[in-house]
Amino acid sequence: MSKKIFSGVQPTGNLHLGNYLGAIKNFVELNNDDENECIFCVVDLHAITVKQDKEQLKNNIRETTATFIASGIDPNKSIIFNQSKVHAHAEGSWILSCMSPMGWLNRMTQFKEKAGKDKEKASVGLYIYPILMASDILLYDTTHVPVGEDQKQHLELTRNIAQKFNKDFNSEDFFKVPEPLIKKNFSRIMSLKDGLKKMSKSDFSDLSRINLTDTKDEIINKIKKAKTDSFPIPNEESELKDRPEATNLLGIYSSILNQKLEKTLVEFGGKNFSEFKIQLSEILSNKIAPISDEIKRLIKDREYLDRILLEGANKADEIANKKIKEIKKIVGF
Ligand code: AMP
Ligand code: TRP
Repeated sequence: MSKKIFSGVQPTGNLHLGNYLGAIKNFVELNNDDENECIFCVVDLHAITVKQDKEQLKNNIRETTATFIASGIDPNKSIIFNQSKVHAHAEGSWILSCMSPMGWLNRMTQFKEKAGKDKEKASVGLYIYPILMASDILLYDTTHVPVGEDQKQHLELTRNIAQKFNKDFNSEDFFKVPEPLIKKNFSRIMSLKDGLKKMSKSDFSDLSRINLTDTKDEIINKIKKAKTDSFPIPNEESELKDRPEATNLLGIYSSILNQKLEKTLVEFGGKNFSEFKIQLSEILSNKIAPISDEIKRLIKDREYLDRILLEGANKADEIANKKIKEIKKIVGF
């Protein structure tokens, strides 16, 4: 059966190895399967839930688009567009927010993390952000959503909203209930400086992440400085317990090569990290540096990127507009 794929990435700069291994690499694999219909969205409406600089936001929209293409998503096969160009996303979000209980939103851990201690000062947009995400997904009759582990709870919420809408309006199967596609082992890439913290765009230390625009030398330097522990690499997975930094680096290596952690341990068991890090730098820079070069080349071609986004928006709008019309009819407008 053909799958309908939808996913989004926020244009908030510093796209990193976590975004790549947790999400974008999977987008590329799904794009390459001719059975699938894929839509990849630069979610700029989500980005403004926290304050953005206007010029920076414009650049980041183009850079995220360039990253999709440089990583291997083919704009002739998949739809690539930015969310704010398709009105139905915001409209759908409002309607869905009117049927989503606050209790469901109050459970969202990402809001709690992002809002921090001073919840009163967080934007209302940040609070209802998962409903906009549900609207994104449900407008396209999406069957599968490839994301990193951190988005699992938001997908659960999307499923609940779809089911509630279908039930409340007696319209069975109107919204498809989408499945998450989360890679089991490597869906959470951690900071290179602290194996208990997620690799993140907003970490103040650039050494904590490999940016997708890093050069070969920067990658080598960051891996050299990445935190490890003083024990050698074990032979068994069970011996990695309580060694978060070691687990993370070995996971990154395995994920880049699409191989099981077990196999990596057979290769490196008993060796020390300095030797492993040389190999890791090698395979990482072989994978990331060409993407980085291509992003830098594409970003200069604004006309091309803007054309991709416009063509993508036209195609997305056609699908989403049809669905929002049906939604409005069901609601009683
Ligand atoms: P964002 O940058 O928050 O828009 O995230 C874009 C995609 O990257 C989502 O699917 C996230 O789940 C995924 N992602 C972000 N950070 C990480 C990470 N450290 N490890 C794995 N996946 C991640
Ligand atoms: N919330 C997601 C993130 O921060 C981005 C996103 C927005 C998304 N809309 C989506 C992901 C729809 C998948 C499907 O990573």
